[in-house]
Amino acid sequence: MAIHTIVRLGHPALRTPARPVPKERIGTPAFAALIADMVATMREASGVGLAAPQIELDWQIFVYEVAEAEGGPGEARAVINPMLEPRAGELVYDWEGCLSIPGLRGLVPRHPAVVVHGLDPEGGTVEFVAEGLLARVMQHEYDHLNGVVFLDRMGDFRSLAFQEEWDRYMVPDRPDEESSAVG
Ligand code: NI
Repeated sequence: MAIHTIVRLGHPALRTPARPVPKERIGTPAFAALIADMVATMREASGVGLAAPQIELDWQIFVYEVAEAEGGPGEARAVINPMLEPRAGELVYDWEGCLSIPGLRGLVPRHPAVVVHGLDPEGGTVEFVAEGLLARVMQHEYDHLNGVVFLDRMGDFRSLAFQEEWDRYMVPDRPDEESSAVG
């Protein structure tokens, strides 16, 4: 298993739309190894999600790991060639950070729920409804596959803050959520 370098904002990989993974590559041992590397890289960086462009790979793949308490799986999962279908509902604002934009956090509006369609690493069909934090992570990671980062989704930059100042001044009563939506 290899830990990859996560590229930072300014690297062209983060602004390049990713290509669909060809069917014949999905389910191979090399592909399984790649997914394992992405999961290891995400965990090493203490993220809840990681998209392939963040490790300079222009394929439509993301991995994520969101606690079961939030309505998601309790183990790392991957979605290949994903499509998101937003469910009706008013946009919800919450804090996000990004492993490719280290040290910054901001309030980002997202759909409250999305239907996620795609393939799993073995080529099986994936389809589920994501809500809450999981819905947010899905939208954040899906954006990465289209060259979009969370800053692009902030309508108002007044909430943008460095992590240290955020911890100190912005939500001192919610220390447990320090890195709840960083991907
Ligand atoms: Ni990110």
